[in-house]
Amino acid sequence: MKTSHDVLIIGTGIAGLSTALALPKSLSVLIVSKDYAWECNTFYAQGGVAVAKDEADIPLHVQDTLGAGAGHCDAEAVDVLCSEGPKAIKHLIDMGFNFDTDEEGNLLYTKEAAHSTNRILHAGGDATGRYIHLFLMQQLPFPILYNTQVTDLLIDEGVCYGARVFHNDTIFNLYAKKVIIASGGVGSLYEYHTNARTISADMQGICLSHGIALADMEMMQFHPTAFVLGNSVRKQLLSESLRGEGAMVVDEDGKRFVFDYDARGELAPRDVVSRAIFKHKQKTNKEVYLDLSAFSKEHFKQRFPSIYFNMTNIGYNVPEQRIPISPAFHYSMGGIKTDLNGKVSHVKDLYAVGECAHTGVHGANRLASNSLLEGLVFSARVAKEIMQSISQPKVQPLLSETEEVLMRENDKVLKNELRHLMWYYAGILRDPKNLEKARQRVEEMLILPIGKLLRLRLLVSREIITSALKRKTSLGAHYIKEEVTA
Ligand code: SIN
Repeated sequence: MKTSHDVLIIGTGIAGLSTALALPKSLSVLIVSKDYAWECNTFYAQGGVAVAKDEADIPLHVQDTLGAGAGHCDAEAVDVLCSEGPKAIKHLIDMGFNFDTDEEGNLLYTKEAAHSTNRILHAGGDATGRYIHLFLMQQLPFPILYNTQVTDLLIDEGVCYGARVFHNDTIFNLYAKKVIIASGGVGSLYEYHTNARTISADMQGICLSHGIALADMEMMQFHPTAFVLGNSVRKQLLSESLRGEGAMVVDEDGKRFVFDYDARGELAPRDVVSRAIFKHKQKTNKEVYLDLSAFSKEHFKQRFPSIYFNMTNIGYNVPEQRIPISPAFHYSMGGIKTDLNGKVSHVKDLYAVGECAHTGVHGANRLASNSLLEGLVFSARVAKEIMQSISQPKVQPLLSETEEVLMRENDKVLKNELRHLMWYYAGILRDPKNLEKARQRVEEMLILPIGKLLRLRLLVSREIITSALKRKTSLGAHYIKEEVTA
């Protein structure tokens, strides 16, 4: 196998695949995937892609993004996202991708929480991510190395030379002139999450172990409506677009209690709705449901085929029967600090893009359906940036190919304990006492004889907790409360 390439991309979600597709075919590009290529968050994205519908909508998209982000967004990054978004979508459509349209061929836009207008494109009804992922995979001219766990970045004197990987029971180095991290967020750190099973913060941990800065790691987003009673680790998402099109959040008495917490009710930003559900459950001990009675069966089946199929399979008669819901971890606004072209601070030839990256575009709370757009817009910028400097010669130093033990016997037990700890103490409602308890336990675990992969998770958990401890007042998804009971 060839172990030296022009570009190495870590991750096969929308950010990684779109970056690859924006690079010339003449380059030698290798993409590594931890599992199957579709085990990524893009594949499971339901609602759609937010995009300004016309010139006049760009400032409104900016305003909604800044509003959801609770004043914590990088205004320049938001401007890039919203003003370059239409071009990125046009490019996808020109490549041959089909978003859902009406019978006359006009694009259909839906609405989601905190958007002031209908501006969410979708595909396959509620299978937008899956459709885009399949489409990008079909266009890909470069090879993917599957079942490949990245165990380290090859960094020497502030320059990145590639990554160390574990593949087919062997550890070896993959060298590249440019390395792009597009590995997604941190879902597996939490007991309840909507993320693909591969999303476990490894790359963020590797960055921390090299002293690379992460930013805003206290900003963790919880999606308000997930079905968490199933056995799978990844919890079934019930798309925000359901609420955008009429689904209601009710308690077991049928009360639409979210209005008691915010005048916008179910269409308040998702951090607000998540907290309302979490608090209402704690306060009343009542079950909370998503009521789908606004939909006819025929329309529901056609508009939300994946949710219809998944919930019917589990035994729910939808839309007639309401679905018990809970918030679940969904998205990390924090990530590896980059500039607006994806360059990682202080390490040459290393880039990050998509959910793993922090450009500041999402602030303290991401606006619904802005993440697929982020993947498209910022990947184009990363590819352009790379093309400007890839021709420079690069002499690679001799680097070790050994690696510490990746997993140890007791890791699984500790991993589950960590998930529980993060959910209750660094989750939707936080307080300094419990955050401190969590921090101490994470420090204890870090000095146990553990495998490297668990250590990476712990490093990122510690970063989330210490960032949360540093931010003394509530902001967006980071919400401080005095008492939390586990
Ligand atoms: C959803 O469909 O509710 C998820 C959309 C998103 O996370 O942006």
